[in-house]
Amino acid sequence: MDMCMMAGSDTEFKATLATSTGNRKIELVLCPIMQNIAVILFAVNYFTWTSAVFDSQRQSVHKKLRYLLEPPVYAEVTARRGANVTLPCLLQKKPLVYKVKWTKLEPLRRGVENIVLITNGQAQKGYGLLGPRASLRRAHPLDASVRISNLELEDDGSYRCELINGIEDESVVLTLRVEGLVFPYQSANGRYKFNHQEAKEACYGQDAALATHKQLFRAWTEGLDWCNAGWLNDGTVHYPILHPRAQCGGEKLPAGIRSYGPKDKTRDYFDAFCFTSITAGYVFFIGGKLNFTEAIEVCREKGAELARVGQLYSAWHFRGLDRCDGGWLYDGSVRFPITSPRKRCGDLREPGVRSFGFPNKTLRLHGAYCYR
Ligand SMILES: *[C@@H]1O[C@H](CO)[C@@H](O)[C@H](O)[C@H]1NC(C)=O
Ligand SMILES: *[C@@H]1O[C@H](CO)[C@@H](O)[C@H](O)[C@H]1NC(C)=O
Ligand SMILES: *[C@@H]1O[C@H](CO)[C@@H](O)[C@H](O)[C@H]1NC(C)=O
Repeated sequence: MDMCMMAGSDTEFKATLATSTGNRKIELVLCPIMQNIAVILFAVNYFTWTSAVFDSQRQSVHKKLRYLLEPPVYAEVTARRGANVTLPCLLQKKPLVYKVKWTKLEPLRRGVENIVLITNGQAQKGYGLLGPRASLRRAHPLDASVRISNLELEDDGSYRCELINGIEDESVVLTLRVEGLVFPYQSANGRYKFNHQEAKEACYGQDAALATHKQLFRAWTEGLDWCNAGWLNDGTVHYPILHPRAQCGGEKLPAGIRSYGPKDKTRDYFDAFCFTSITAGYVFFIGGKLNFTEAIEVCREKGAELARVGQLYSAWHFRGLDRCDGGWLYDGSVRFPITSPRKRCGDLREPGVRSFGFPNKTLRLHGAYCYR
């Protein structure tokens, strides 16, 4: 791991790698590939999309701070959807008069300041979408840490804790990473049928959100290899390749995230890369030879609904759901989750959620995956 990190000579690349705490074996195997992809990422586009976040980080790195503790206790906080998290920000010394302002950095919407919470040391006020779920921890008089309750997928990102004292303002930047997984999603009408907004809605409909570039990159390091290009939340289009092959952009290009760059959000059509995390409920299978309406009905009889694609992926990833039977899902597709690959389950070499696509809804060939 250390050697890999040294290979990326830039802080941005290290930051990306440092977020990767996954399986050590996988990281070691991927090291030589990562060195190659680093070049692509930097040369092409990684900088421009994330620069808003890192610019502010860079500034705070070079200035010796007088009031705020730096580095913050942890630079990255990781948690699953639904959890309560604390983003640490401590004063080492209190100015007479000051405010602390927490903002979520939005590299996608330049110029928009997304304030989460402001405090003057006594009173606090929450702002925006996150405001109602944000509060100060106040463990002691020097504590300006913010708590975010009931974590949502969209909370993933960078946050700035800024001390404003009227003379010289200071800030530290932290990353909040929602632990989860990325899955590719295609329309029932076929390949490349979503514009950006439709891709966003498609993910939302499957209990997921359009993935960020960081999330896709991480998914690639964890084994995602997919030959169809999909939208990311920043309006760019990519696909992750671990095994270079002729029909997926060529054998000569190194493994990595292949990029189409930013595309026209209204006029260009692709698939989607969706991101989801753990769910509050459970997915279970009901066997039988059911058509689509019967599948809806058997779930309803159990007080459940047909599972969304994101819920099935989540159950597979977080709860190890392994089932060799195809089942209907809410969107009309038929899939099955495999955690231990075996010969008679599609003869697949790697774990994953397999798809039969969107069969004719009158067919009586499959069971149902329900979510409750
Ligand atoms: C999160 O905090 C709220 C109170 O703000 C509490 O009701 C809830 O149970 C906590 N959730 C978890 C997962 O700890
Ligand atoms: C589904 O199958 C039925 C019966 O075989 C057929 O009448 C119908 O046209 C098919 N629907 C589609 C969308 O292919
Ligand atoms: C499924 O079968 C039921 C009869 O059990 C029928 O009423 C329903 O229309 C069928 N649905 C589809 C989509 O074919």
